[in-house]
Amino acid sequence: MFTERCVFYLLITLILIGTQHFCQHIDEVKRLIKDKEKNYDKELRPVINQSESIAVYLNFSLLSIQEVNEVKQTVTLNAYISIRWRDEKIAWEPADYDGIVEFAVNSGRFWTPPLLIINTNDKLDFIGNPSIKTRYANTGVAFYDPGLSLTVSCRLDIRFYPWDRHRCFLQFDPWHYVPEELILINQTSHVDTTFYKPNGQWDLISSGVSSIAFPHKSTSYQVVIFIERQSTYVIVNVILPVIVLSLLNLMIFFIPNVSGERISFSITLLLAVTVFMTIVADNLPKSSTPMALFSYYLLIVLVMSNCITLSVIYSLCLYHRDESEPVGSYWQCIVRVMKYQCRSKKRNSRKYQNEVPSNKSGFGHNKDDKCSTIQVDPRMVIPPFYSGNYLYVNGKKRRKVSSKRWPPRNAFSQQHSSSGENEKNECSNVKEHENSVEKHICWKDVSVAFDRICFMIFMLLLIIASVASLAYIYFGRLKDNEK
Ligand SMILES: *[C@@H]1O[C@H](CO)[C@@H](O)[C@H](O)[C@H]1NC(C)=O
Ligand SMILES: *[C@@H]1O[C@H](CO)[C@@H](O)[C@H](O)[C@H]1NC(C)=O
Ligand SMILES: *[C@@H]1O[C@H](CO)[C@@H](O)[C@H](O)[C@H]1NC(C)=O
Repeated sequence: MFTERCVFYLLITLILIGTQHFCQHIDEVKRLIKDKEKNYDKELRPVINQSESIAVYLNFSLLSIQEVNEVKQTVTLNAYISIRWRDEKIAWEPADYDGIVEFAVNSGRFWTPPLLIINTNDKLDFIGNPSIKTRYANTGVAFYDPGLSLTVSCRLDIRFYPWDRHRCFLQFDPWHYVPEELILINQTSHVDTTFYKPNGQWDLISSGVSSIAFPHKSTSYQVVIFIERQSTYVIVNVILPVIVLSLLNLMIFFIPNVSGERISFSITLLLAVTVFMTIVADNLPKSSTPMALFSYYLLIVLVMSNCITLSVIYSLCLYHRDESEPVGSYWQCIVRVMKYQCRSKKRNSRKYQNEVPSNKSGFGHNKDDKCSTIQVDPRMVIPPFYSGNYLYVNGKKRRKVSSKRWPPRNAFSQQHSSSGENEKNECSNVKEHENSVEKHICWKDVSVAFDRICFMIFMLLLIIASVASLAYIYFGRLKDNEK
């Protein structure tokens, strides 16, 4: 019983305390505002001793980063700024006005600090507008929180794209007031991000605020934000495709010359790289200072793709060169070097019949075979034979023949019929045939050897260029950040 009554009285007290605040009569508020507007000049700073400066406290809160435009070098933000100052002309005694402790009116009715963002890209104008409310406490403290949706120009350094980091700053200046009249004071050392909504493309890494006053000149409140690009999108959509394309570009050296597809394949890939260059270029500022290092990497890939196309054309030229032209000694040298490197591999893959020379040398007399100047001296040739599980060529044990495939399929039967089928094979026959008294190298071998060299060189160049460029960009950024 006693506790119930206690609870009841407690509730009543709480309700009374709670409603006391809202029990202000509209006429009292009107009277208060009217009284305060009397004799109030909103042009003048609201300090009674006009030789004193008025302190304006600021807190900058970032809500979101809307857009970062690398081409226009601008950053669009949503934010609000909390502004506090003490209006000595408005302070009142609550007892005189039915216990009113605060009220809110349109900010245009009393003095507000005229703040200007000087590096905005929009129209240069004072922040806030007269219809935003200012709340006044009975001590005269004013609370004014205008929202900002602004585009500021920032110098975006895209050298290390897509791992670039930018520093963007906003500067608030009280126009025409010197620090002796109005001083801006930061109440925190960083931007308030309580209501910050992350951006899908950019990470907010850190922020800072500071206020600087130059006596007799100006005072300013500066906000700095550091943003970093989320590089995953660019890596997945640009870098990896470019790398895959350049590897694909190398595969051109595996397309046989006879297929006639080589040039169109390389041109297609060249176009694909060009398209990627355009995509990247669209996202970068159209200025040369500073250039994105990534553009140089794409240029390297493009140049390499060009060189690959040129080598393919040259290789085709070599392939179709008239066999009556003698093969130069340096070409022969190259072919021998390449052949030596690839011999072991080739041996395993070549069919049995290719190992077997024909006494009649049927391949040599085929009219399609331009590589037919070789004369095999039959006296010097020991015909290949099989003994046990080994194939003997020129009296040397050449290869173990697996018992499964014994006797070797088509070992001797097809040597004549196959001779006209594939010119290249025949050339290789001659080349591979170590029994020949004079080793002959035809242009088709030169073309194949040239392809191999090109493949190796371009593969090496491409790997070095890719690793070096990307590492340079990535670590260059880290080094730059330390500064
Ligand atoms: C007004 O402020 C100035 C500077 O603070 C001070 O020197 C001066 O005495 C003040 N005047 C009055 C009337 O309080
Ligand atoms: C700014 O933020 C700090 C800490 O949150 C707070 O104490 C201060 O009153 C705020 N000032 C303004 C002007 O909002
Ligand atoms: C105002 O900014 C400066 C520089 O960032 C900082 O050192 C100082 O602590 C800040 N003031 C407050 C009250 O946080």
